[in-house]
Amino acid sequence: MRIILVGCGIVGQSFARILIRRETELVKDYGFHPRVVAVVDKGGAAINPRGLTLEKTLSLKDEKRTVASSREYGHPAMSALDVIESVEAEAMVEATPTNIVDGEPGLSYIKTAFKTGKHVVTTNKGPLALAMPALVELADYNKVYLRFSGTVGAGTPVLELAKKCLLGDRIVSIRGILNGTTNYILTEMDEKHFTFQQALKNAQKLGYCETDPSMDVDGVDAACKLVIMANWIMNKKVTLKDVDVQGIRNVTPQALEEAAKKTCTIKLIGSINSDLRVKPIEISRHDPLSVGGVLNAVTFVSEFAGEETIIGRGAGGIETASTILRDLLDIKQNLATKLIA
Ligand code: HSE
Repeated sequence: MRIILVGCGIVGQSFARILIRRETELVKDYGFHPRVVAVVDKGGAAINPRGLTLEKTLSLKDEKRTVASSREYGHPAMSALDVIESVEAEAMVEATPTNIVDGEPGLSYIKTAFKTGKHVVTTNKGPLALAMPALVELADYNKVYLRFSGTVGAGTPVLELAKKCLLGDRIVSIRGILNGTTNYILTEMDEKHFTFQQALKNAQKLGYCETDPSMDVDGVDAACKLVIMANWIMNKKVTLKDVDVQGIRNVTPQALEEAAKKTCTIKLIGSINSDLRVKPIEISRHDPLSVGGVLNAVTFVSEFAGEETIIGRGAGGIETASTILRDLLDIKQNLATKLIA
């Protein structure tokens, strides 16, 4: 499979490292031969139709240089759209930062990839939060796959659990901690009595936050994930404007202390029932959603199977990058059976 990688930050680079590390197993265990034919970053592109040597591409990034500075394969003047339009490939991996104002530039990259017949794997929540119903339709129309496992739960297979493992059942409601940064902050405030600002600083140092951390603390990141789950799992045609959002800025140490006296704690909970909400809520410490640190936890309530909760790390570059490989393998397997879904 020929792949164009657009966005070469932490997630894009981690994806390249995973491909290098898994090269032999991918061929042996899955018959999968990924070939990254182009990488695009802010400085331009590196293109080799026979496949770039990812070690070399990564060494440029380690030196804080653009991939376009490659002597043999660099194209400093080429934009991502030029590359997506002109380079032959079966799939585009889109790992640019989330923008919830207009979804750009990721939104245009995804649409262009569809129009040029490329399957898309994205870890970018912006385009999906703003235009998921339209994007799903556009992918179907162009007979290509759109996959986005890394947009919810980082490496934790939240979407797959609901979509694949509960196949045939009907999920009636979802409730969960969907943002690692805010869970980390609330845990640090609760357990170590850190101030909000101290805890936020640590979360930034650990690389959990969005480029703009207000996305995390004001609940917007969790709301984006809720929209993705509502569309993909529950077939609700909703976008970000349909979510009632409240972040954690007003959660005080006093409120956490009061909650602790009742064997409770405060968590930023996203829920999908008749409506979509993100809100700090007091929950029992015995609730399966009462997880600490950067963990995410999601409880699915389904008609037949009852309640299941999935827990796992909800943020991190390598964790998110691992989902790109999962999604590409999923596309490969679907193509092998000629499914479009
Ligand atoms: N900033 C996000 C979080 C990253 O803290 O959950 C994963 O989407």
